[in-house]
Amino acid sequence: MCGIVGYLGFQQAVPVLLYGLQKLTYRGYDSAGIAVLENGGILVKKQAGKLTVLAEELKDNSFQARVGIGHTRWATHGRPSIINAHPHTDCSGCFAVVHNGIIENYLELKGWLIAQGHTFSSETDTEVLPHLVEHYYRGRLELAVHQAIARVEGSYAMVVLTVHEPGCLVAARQDSPLIVGLGENENFVASDVPALLKYTRQTYIPSDGEMAIITPEKVGIKDHQLKSVQKPIFEVKWEEAQAEKGGFAHFMLKEIYEQPQAIQETLRGRLAQDNTEVTLGGLSLAGVKKIFITACGTAYHAGLVGKYVIEKLARLPVEVELASEFRYRQPLIAPKTLVLVISQSGETADTLGALREAKKMGAPVVAVTNVVGSSVDREADFNLYTWAGPEIAVASTKAYTTQLITMYLLALYIADKQKILPAEEIQTLIKELKNLSQKAAEVLPRAAIFNQELADRYAQKENIFFIGRGLDYAVAMEGSLKLKEISYIHAEAYAAGELKHGTLALITDGVPVVALVTQRALLEKTISNIKEVKAREATVITFAATGLKEVEDVSDHVFYLPQTHPLLSSVLAVIPLQLLAYYMAVARGCDVDQPRNLAKSVTVE
Ligand code: AGP
Repeated sequence: MCGIVGYLGFQQAVPVLLYGLQKLTYRGYDSAGIAVLENGGILVKKQAGKLTVLAEELKDNSFQARVGIGHTRWATHGRPSIINAHPHTDCSGCFAVVHNGIIENYLELKGWLIAQGHTFSSETDTEVLPHLVEHYYRGRLELAVHQAIARVEGSYAMVVLTVHEPGCLVAARQDSPLIVGLGENENFVASDVPALLKYTRQTYIPSDGEMAIITPEKVGIKDHQLKSVQKPIFEVKWEEAQAEKGGFAHFMLKEIYEQPQAIQETLRGRLAQDNTEVTLGGLSLAGVKKIFITACGTAYHAGLVGKYVIEKLARLPVEVELASEFRYRQPLIAPKTLVLVISQSGETADTLGALREAKKMGAPVVAVTNVVGSSVDREADFNLYTWAGPEIAVASTKAYTTQLITMYLLALYIADKQKILPAEEIQTLIKELKNLSQKAAEVLPRAAIFNQELADRYAQKENIFFIGRGLDYAVAMEGSLKLKEISYIHAEAYAAGELKHGTLALITDGVPVVALVTQRALLEKTISNIKEVKAREATVITFAATGLKEVEDVSDHVFYLPQTHPLLSSVLAVIPLQLLAYYMAVARGCDVDQPRNLAKSVTVE
């Protein structure tokens, strides 16, 4: 997820671009750049690091440019660096592009362009865009952009600038946000509203497949056949603070609702159209006899789910251990063991320490991170990225579900490469993986209503227990962590079969027990555990797979999850638990995005 801006009008472009980028840094902040039309040419200024580095370089600028584009980056292809920062230009330096999205077929396009004589300088997927526009340009920028995007597979929100048409910007979008701001003798384009609010609340919102042809005087919207489209003017009502949260009250809620998109982005380009295989770049697991997963917090909980699905589908033994334990106990890593390190930030000190310990022992390390160019990313031997976009709230949500998606992909990848699963079973699972994004979108509004009502009733409780068996136990642990870290309610997760070995002593009248029941094979056993707590007057809140109606007789509240393959249920089961934690915290007046004592990335031991 990156932030893009564009401006044309009577103001100096550089301050307008920098202001817009500043308002979009929540979309990405590992590098930034601008391109403006100055003295008849395109002037490009780019910096790695926070936007302040670029702003510092530009602070005494005397640029007279009235047209420009800008970008604040969240790296996907190509580590954060000046050369990989946007804008990117073509060979002639006559075209500049900023882009947010993922171009899935960029390697094929890059090869074709190089064969046509184009030269590239960055590692990014984006750089194919200015070269494509250069290739197709015959005097009309909109036509060249139209032909260029016809070659592209993937997602994009892009803005193109050229010296040949100094009074025009062309923008286009597909599966990435783009909004056009309408001014008086000036117009704007950006990824999101916060970049515009200082200047205008009048906007056009192009749809997927549409282009915007922007001059200071007017904005034309055209469809994928270059037919003009009449767009209604959308008046933005949000204030700035709301706008950065996309209208949500908190970043956490925004990020919970971003999960369908994050799931889709993490799957993008990794599942064959015909559902026959998973592609994970050049990952080679030949000869691997065991996987050792190590992580902290929520990432550790994702690793627990990973254990279940990898052992079940790939029949490979998996061990999971907290990084803070792993790194200090001289763990025995048998030969042919792959160490899998999971970290959203890629900067968690214990996880980085565990990675270094594993490498010292000669184990190959694969990292699952959400931040390209992070320490864990750089030091691992291979990287499987979650494409969740920046996660601002301390409580991890979309990073967790995209980590689960990555576990599913890895399990299927191994099962396929090592011929463990029959082809039809792999196809069934891949088909269902493709449905998860839409099912996550479906469960969100229902779960929000259900959990707001629960919060009204139970927000003042001081102790809440989570129970489950198998995969449900792993998700119960994540639900428990979410609740306690933002609502400060004491919560504990227990293997449902373990309650009677002590914890049952804590279950008394009215103590809420959250039960996860998604595994039909474990239904009978889990119900008998629910009966144990019910018999002690607990209040039972059950999140169950559709169809498991037997839970209704033993529960005070029941929420049914969308139907899916039992092995993929965790991605959907966790969403109501995230919302339970969220609404409980809101009801208790807690600081949801910045809970006490906690940090987004624990870079100290
Ligand atoms: C989860 O909500 C917490 N913020 C915390 O447990 C977090 O998952 C843990 O610190 C690991 O962070 P990482 O994924 O960035 O390594």
